[in-house]
Amino acid sequence: MKGSSSLTIPPFFDLQSRDEVGSTNDEVRLLAEQGAQDGTVVWALRQSAGRGRHGRTWTSPEGNLYFSILLRPSVSIAEAANLSFVASLGLADAIRTFIPECKISLKWPNDVLLEGRKISGVLLESKANNSGKLEYLIMGIGVNLQHYPDDARYPATSILEQNKDNTPKPGKMLEAFLNSFDPWYKLWNKEGFASIRTAWLDQAHGLGDKIYVRLPGETLSGRFVTIDQDGALDLDLDNGNQRLITAGDVFFASS
Ligand code: BTN
Repeated sequence: MKGSSSLTIPPFFDLQSRDEVGSTNDEVRLLAEQGAQDGTVVWALRQSAGRGRHGRTWTSPEGNLYFSILLRPSVSIAEAANLSFVASLGLADAIRTFIPECKISLKWPNDVLLEGRKISGVLLESKANNSGKLEYLIMGIGVNLQHYPDDARYPATSILEQNKDNTPKPGKMLEAFLNSFDPWYKLWNKEGFASIRTAWLDQAHGLGDKIYVRLPGETLSGRFVTIDQDGALDLDLDNGNQRLITAGDVFFASS
C-alpha cells in the first residue's frame, strides 16, 4: 500500500499495510499465533468481513480507518479489558488534533462520540495462556473519516460530516492515533488503571445523567454514577437499587 512508509510513528509499533483483508483482527491473530511481537499493527484500506462488538458487522468501505494492534502486556484477562479505555483516550486525542473545535466525549465502555454521535469503535479480542493470564490481546479500531452507517443502533457520524475542510486520510489518522495512544499505554503499564480511569471520567458522556443500558433480554434505566476501579459502569437504578454493569449498550435520555 502506498504512503504507509512515510508515517512517523513511535518505535514500539511495527506497521504492516494491506489493501484489503477480511478483518484486521483476524490478520493480527494469525501473526500472533506465528509469534509476532508486541506492537505489531495491521492497517487495511478495506475490510470485506469487518466485525463490531457483540458479533455485529462493521461495514468497511475505503476512506475510513481500519487497523488492529497486537499487545502482549503481562496482566490478567480482566486487567487487559481496561485497554478499551486506554484506546478511547488515544482516539479522543487523535481525533481532536484534526477538529479541535468539535465536542468530543467518551461513551462507556469504548466509543468516542463527536457532537454526541459515534465516530469510532474498539473491538478487543484476547487469548489466555495455560495459567489464565493474557497471552495476547488484539485491539481492533475503526474510525469514521468519510463514511458512517445510517442504520446503526446508535447514531453515527464521520469527520467529513462534521468538518468537510479537514478530513484526514486514513494514514494520517492512524499516525495521530499511534502517537496519542503510546503515552496512555505507557501510563497504564506503569501505574495501572487508576489514572486512566480518572482521565476517562473527565471526558465521559452523560456522567451523572439518566441513561438506559440495554442488556440481553432487558433494558435498565437509572443514573450513571461513575465507573468502578475495574471499569464497570455504576448505575443507580430508578427503583433505588445499585447495579454494576460489565457489558451492555448505553443510550442517553438526552444527548
Ligand atoms: C464496535 O462495535 O464499536 C467495534 C468496531 C470495531 C471495528 C474495527 S475495524 C478494525 C478491526 N477489524 C474488525 O473486524 N473490527 C475492528
